[in-house]
Amino acid sequence: MPATGAKPTGVEDEASAAQTVRQMFNAIAPRYDLLNHLLSANVDRLWWNRTARSFRPVLANPDAAVLDICCGTGDMTMALLRRRPRGARPILAADFARSMLSRGARKFDARKPGEPGAVALEADALHLPLRPASLDLVVTAFGFRNLANYEAGLREFHRVLRPGGQLGILDFSEPGGIVGKAYAIYFRRVLPAIGRLICGRDGPYSYLPASVERFPQPPEMLALMSTAGYNECAWQPYTFGIAGLYTGTRAAVA
Ligand SMILES: C[S@@+](CC[C@H](N)C(=O)[O-])C[C@H]1O[C@@H](n2cnc3c(N)ncnc32)[C@H](O)[C@@H]1O
Repeated sequence: MPATGAKPTGVEDEASAAQTVRQMFNAIAPRYDLLNHLLSANVDRLWWNRTARSFRPVLANPDAAVLDICCGTGDMTMALLRRRPRGARPILAADFARSMLSRGARKFDARKPGEPGAVALEADALHLPLRPASLDLVVTAFGFRNLANYEAGLREFHRVLRPGGQLGILDFSEPGGIVGKAYAIYFRRVLPAIGRLICGRDGPYSYLPASVERFPQPPEMLALMSTAGYNECAWQPYTFGIAGLYTGTRAAVA
């Protein structure tokens, strides 16, 4: 199947896919952090921190303009903030689901005076209210897979990145071999059942494995990035390839 974008059950076009995704995240927002940490046995924290570590040099520059898009309840942003020096420019943390974003905003507001901060912005990743070539780093954690159109997402990130700016996409993958088989049972059967129990509804945690299945495998994703104008495209598997970080640099000339 050619890569297009997220397609929750029952939706046909991109606008309804985006709307369904937004409603789903608004609905699970109150339980999102609990479920995330529980279902990943806290490995998610390692993944966010490892991703932030990959961008240490740019984060260490106090003037760097950084966007965490699809920031949800803000844990990726918090990991990025830990790598920012005092007095650094605030990170922009954007999401289109208000209930997720408001939880993130509370975490940012709880930071001590003088600590590097973040500004919450309600925005759609496919239509960012940002000037072209205005950012040094765009990061997204477990959000890209939910976009209604992957190519449009890559193009939009490319538009807002400066030439030489970096992109990091952390998302799930489908590992092969024995680990992949064992993980598939957990991901397709156990995880949706626990999600249903805690959320009291079926949708989001059945959608999760389905969305990972639809998501391009690393070679295809790297080809999409390259076509969209990124150089030095690479994929770093995390935890046996259950997740992984895609990185790329905006080419000087598209
Ligand atoms: C699985 S959550 C990830 C949240 C956070 N980054 C994390 O690592 O926990 C995916 C987030 O992507 C957001 N999202 C999906 N499509 C989006 C879009 N087109 N624009 C902005 N946010 C979007 C959802 O609202 C949701 O908060």
